[in-house]
Amino acid sequence: MKEIKEIRKGGEQMSAEVAHIPVALTRCLDLLTPAIANSSKPYLIDATLGLAGHAKVFLEKFSNLHLIGIDRDPSALAVAKEQLLAFAERTTLLHLTYDQINQALAAAGINEVDAILFDLGVSSMQLDLSQRGFSYSKDAPLDMRMDQSAPLTAKVILDTYSHGQLAKIIQNYGEEKFASKIAENIIKARSLGELNTTKDLAEIVKSSIPAPARRTGGNPAKRTFQALRIEVNQELTILEQAIPAALAALKVGGRLVVMSYQSLEDRIVKNIFNQVVKSKTPRGLPVELPDSAANYRLLISSSEAANEAEQISNPRSQSMRLRAIERVAA
Ligand SMILES: C[S@@+](CC[C@H](N)C(=O)[O-])C[C@H]1O[C@@H](n2cnc3c(N)ncnc32)[C@H](O)[C@@H]1O
Repeated sequence: MKEIKEIRKGGEQMSAEVAHIPVALTRCLDLLTPAIANSSKPYLIDATLGLAGHAKVFLEKFSNLHLIGIDRDPSALAVAKEQLLAFAERTTLLHLTYDQINQALAAAGINEVDAILFDLGVSSMQLDLSQRGFSYSKDAPLDMRMDQSAPLTAKVILDTYSHGQLAKIIQNYGEEKFASKIAENIIKARSLGELNTTKDLAEIVKSSIPAPARRTGGNPAKRTFQALRIEVNQELTILEQAIPAALAALKVGGRLVVMSYQSLEDRIVKNIFNQVVKSKTPRGLPVELPDSAANYRLLISSSEAANEAEQISNPRSQSMRLRAIERVAA
């Protein structure tokens, strides 16, 4: 899929090269196919519809599949709608955050689904549209909202949070060793009116990190940008609600696949999955107590990376970790 899209947002004309390769597509198909193929009227929730890269292939493969596509970004939904025009009768596209799965089920008039897919993070279009402020390598307003109707921007955070609040999010969400120094320099720059764009922020981060530490680990701004993006979009809080909601929405035999691109998200998925696959029989008892067996089973014992060929052809897949689970009882 590669084309130039013109998107109108707040009166502003923006163009983005939509050059999107869905990550781990074959693996997602392999893992979700048994759940979809065994159902007479299958439903798939794509909780992170994006540019509909994955969704379109599922709709092409299964002629009776109904897709419920969720995205919090109206521009992504607009592109997805166009991509899926041929399947309009089998799609329900919703502007929601993915923890609102119950609302999505209600909108489609159903109680449970056969398959759910999460491909977390930002889309290639969000990264490519420099105006969105996600990229530290392009100069842009300090925005970083996935949903541009939401009130909290990166600029609001950088202008109003205290030193302690800034240091905490940069350390916790960016796993950044020099968080306190970066927060100190953010406060200095903002008091001088010198923190207005992503380039300003990238420079502040760079000057806060000692030269020897800058030589490893890629662009020094990466961790601080990640932290701000997580805070702006409340990514981890929403994910913590979303995974249990997704597990509850699966019918017996239904399957859930989650692809994460950073360790904080993957840890949340891993912990919740590990919790629900545990038997409720007290440890030490030789037999399973009635009704104590776990309702879910892992389809992959730990996490999986993209294969080597994909990592070479699609660099975005390099940090991906995939987990998959199946509902085995009600
Ligand atoms: C990596 S992209 C998905 C790409 C998609 N699988 C494809 O092949 O085109 C992630 C998408 O999830 C959306 N997203 C991120 N967090 C979300 C949330 N909490 N609720 C709903 N959508 C979210 C983003 O707006 C983005 O469009």
